Amino acid sequence: MIDLDDHPVVLEVRNLSKRFPVGGMFGKQQVHALNDVSFSIRVGEVVALVGESGSGKSTTARLIARLMQPSSGEILFKGKNMLKVEPRGASLGYRNRVQMIFQDPFSSLNPVHTIGHHIARPLLLHHKVQRRRDREGRINELLAKVGLNPPADFASKFPYQLSGGQRQRIAIARALAVDPEIILADEPISMLDVSIRIGVLNLLAQLKKDYGIGYLYITHDIASARYIGDKTMVMYAGHIVEGAESSELMEHPSHPYTQLLLSAVPNPHSLDQPTRLETRGEIPSLIDPPPGCPFAARCPHVKPICREVMPSTTMLSADHWVRCHLYGSDNSAAQPAA
Ligand SMILES: Nc1ncnc2c1ncn2[C@@H]1O[C@H](COP(=O)(O)OP(=O)(O)OP(=O)(O)O)[C@@H](O)[C@H]1O
Ligand SMILES: [Mg+2]
Repeated sequence: MIDLDDHPVVLEVRNLSKRFPVGGMFGKQQVHALNDVSFSIRVGEVVALVGESGSGKSTTARLIARLMQPSSGEILFKGKNMLKVEPRGASLGYRNRVQMIFQDPFSSLNPVHTIGHHIARPLLLHHKVQRRRDREGRINELLAKVGLNPPADFASKFPYQLSGGQRQRIAIARALAVDPEIILADEPISMLDVSIRIGVLNLLAQLKKDYGIGYLYITHDIASARYIGDKTMVMYAGHIVEGAESSELMEHPSHPYTQLLLSAVPNPHSLDQPTRLETRGEIPSLIDPPPGCPFAARCPHVKPICREVMPSTTMLSADHWVRCHLYGSDNSAAQPAA
């Protein structure tokens, strides 16, 4: 794998948290959807975020896309805290640079417009092309780039004439149209047939190589994180509990939750058998959660301190860290089996 440590950081989030008020107008309860999340994405780096349903993955992406305001924390784009630079919402410039791809490509395509129209829109909106002739050329270039050939044929089609994988390729072409530096891909393959998932992942990987795009790749399937992620972070109940270079994380999972995730994957090198985490228990309620580690209730290695104090971050090596009382200075129990 290429060493990405020399690549500059494009996006960094620091101590990002999000609380949603619930319980009516006078209710004081809060959903703690995201807690103290920090990570960075370098040029041409894929950072995979893995977690089960409700763990806070989409909330992380939506905050970075600035579709909603965080409760606290910082979002730095090329070193500038965007929440301070653009406090009232992201400018068109930021929205160009940070694009989002969603799980369901069909819902974001208007059935009455052609594919060419869908790709022309961002080109016009963001003043990427001036003349009509240039526009058609650019649309064809983008369609060819995402593997839809011959491009002119696809440009005149309507969304219903395309397969799920082709529609996701359109969503990717649309994101590419504005020359993004970061793509937030929120479960981009989970609604696609198993047979075409690899093709879409390979396309994302090719674009990272060709354009140096950095990705936040969101998935509930740790096998696909391993396949495309340079780094993988594991999220549980709104906390990132472990992070490392993907191969290191898969070979030496340290948090008991990461170990549980990997034990549910029959073959971590294959995408054919997606992990079904939902069958392995539920995330605890995020409404005013008790103190301590959120995984304590399910953890086979739980100690009294786990129910009282949220573990701090322990560095296991330069690029591998974990938040678990089994490691670091507050460890007083045997290490879990890897
Ligand atoms: N607008 C909202 N109001 C209240 N709670 C919300 C809101 N949006 C998200 N949540 C809650 O925040 C938590 C995290 O949700 P999020 O959508 O980020 O999870 P996720 O990891 O993307 O899950 P999935 O895999 O199902 O997409 C969930 O408990 C969810 O119910
Ligand atoms: Mg989600």
